[in-house]
Amino acid sequence: MAAIPRFLAACMAMASPLVYAQLLQPQTNTWNSTFSLTEEQIASLNLSATAANNINIAARFEQSNWATGSVFTDPFYTHLPTNASWAPAGSVLKVEAFTSTSTYTISPALALSRIVYQSKTLNGTLVPVSAFILWPYRPRGGASVSPLVSWGHGTSGLTPECGPSHVRNLWQQFAGPYSLALAGYAVVATDYAGLGVPVYPDGSEIIHQYLASPASGNDMLYAAQAAQAAFPGELSPNFAVVGHSQGGGAAWGAARQQVEAQVPGYLGAIAVAPVTDAIGTGRESGALDYSFITIAKSLLSIFPSLSLSQMLTSTGINTVRLFDQVQACNSVINTAIIQLLAANATLSRHEFWDSIYISTWEDLVRVSEEETEGPLLVIHGVDDAVIPEALTFAAVRGTCDKFPRTQLQYIRAAGMTHTSTLYATQQIWFEWLDARFDEAARRVRRPNHKSCECKISTIGSQSPRPLDQYRHEPNYYLMFALDFYQVA
Ligand SMILES: *[C@@H]1O[C@H](CO)[C@@H](O)[C@H](O)[C@H]1NC(C)=O
Ligand SMILES: *[C@@H]1O[C@H](CO)[C@@H](O)[C@H](O)[C@H]1NC(C)=O
Ligand SMILES: *[C@@H]1O[C@H](CO)[C@@H](O)[C@H](O)[C@H]1NC(C)=O
Ligand SMILES: *[C@@H]1O[C@H](CO)[C@@H](O)[C@H](O)[C@H]1NC(C)=O
Ligand SMILES: *[C@@H]1O[C@H](CO)[C@@H](O)[C@H](O)[C@H]1NC(C)=O
Repeated sequence: MAAIPRFLAACMAMASPLVYAQLLQPQTNTWNSTFSLTEEQIASLNLSATAANNINIAARFEQSNWATGSVFTDPFYTHLPTNASWAPAGSVLKVEAFTSTSTYTISPALALSRIVYQSKTLNGTLVPVSAFILWPYRPRGGASVSPLVSWGHGTSGLTPECGPSHVRNLWQQFAGPYSLALAGYAVVATDYAGLGVPVYPDGSEIIHQYLASPASGNDMLYAAQAAQAAFPGELSPNFAVVGHSQGGGAAWGAARQQVEAQVPGYLGAIAVAPVTDAIGTGRESGALDYSFITIAKSLLSIFPSLSLSQMLTSTGINTVRLFDQVQACNSVINTAIIQLLAANATLSRHEFWDSIYISTWEDLVRVSEEETEGPLLVIHGVDDAVIPEALTFAAVRGTCDKFPRTQLQYIRAAGMTHTSTLYATQQIWFEWLDARFDEAARRVRRPNHKSCECKISTIGSQSPRPLDQYRHEPNYYLMFALDFYQVA
């Protein structure tokens, strides 16, 4: 064979060395999961052929996007050291300093590590949690160590397979982690307890306490502390937390938990499109069935005396069981619930909606109208259809009324929606983060006696084009290329 030009050989080495001997496949050859619901599963929900097909397709999409296979078979998630049963929150249990990115779709010029560390559930139980660390090529501003940001992802799903650290695009890609790392921050991103690492050291199931924001706030705080312990001297001794949606609630939760946790180096939190009122969101959008299906196990983990049959109809219970069996993440959950609601299924018990469990849960997981530590930047898109902006506005006003000394700044992004708000305000987070790290470097003490710092503003009126001309939610995903000819 004649010599292959060096640049082409380099492209081909990205895939298989035998690539020139193989028959090329169309791009979809990496979307190859063969998942199929069983007859029993289809019967348990009386799914139509269309509904079953759609759930299969969604599950194949999710499983084809695993970078390192199942978290139940990847020893990184299943083999924990013995100190996992007693090491205190914030300690590192396991370090994979170099994670091969050949099966991920991360941005060029970034590097990846994974850790397992100790966190605490809502009631303070120790729990092992996985996280990834995304490293910049050049620390921000040319600093000698990378300023550390703890990222809290938006909803990815409810079960261990939904841990972003084994998903090819790390979940939310350029909306959060890639952009932060490309801007020079090191990003530690918790999977949240119950996503990623599937079981406690004693072998029992870790239930993801979905939308229990103080619990995922713990996960964000202790991820930062553990990352610093895993890479001594390579990360800034200070850190900030940034999260979106579920992770926005978690970031606000971190600010609340920090009052007690006092994790060293905490600089403040950015909560973008935060969940502050999970039940309220369901009520506003007439989607309480959806809310209760997704938080059912979270509630069970908090109230051991509660049973699924108190919350859900038999169809609802079978839905939760199916989600466990299939390890449903967002795509499967949304596809299945759309199909069930279209078939007029009732999933939750309406008498449960006003039960004492709900009001108790709301008190336990509330992050607004609570004392928080440090500066808090809240951002929400005015046109958000997933979490109404009015709920965040109310949470901000309630917090400022009750705790007027909260160092809270609220920015409303006109014309922006749930995900576009993250992209629209990237420059604002970078400026805010730079100010926090700069204050820390200059040892500027923020006075904590200052009276109300609550500032509310709206951006977007100066946009170069009319607001209705801007793109809203993404209509693409990052597709893994197995062959050299597939890269665009
Ligand atoms: C599916 O694609 C992955 C690459 O994404 C590849 O490693 C694996 O061998 C493929 N499996 C099958 C059954 O083709
Ligand atoms: C199952 O769904 C079909 C329509 O697809 C309906 O005719 C039938 O009554 C349903 N069975 C049960 C047990 O709900
Ligand atoms: C736990 O054990 C692992 C493996 O021996 C070790 O790498 C890690 O540093 C230990 N962590 C703590 C907090 O003791
Ligand atoms: C605390 O919560 C965990 C789950 O996070 C549960 O297993 C445990 O029983 C709870 N303990 C108490 C005292 O409620
Ligand atoms: C669901 O209910 C609506 C409104 O009552 C009705 O129009 C529709 O035909 C029902 N769909 C099914 C699949 O039964």
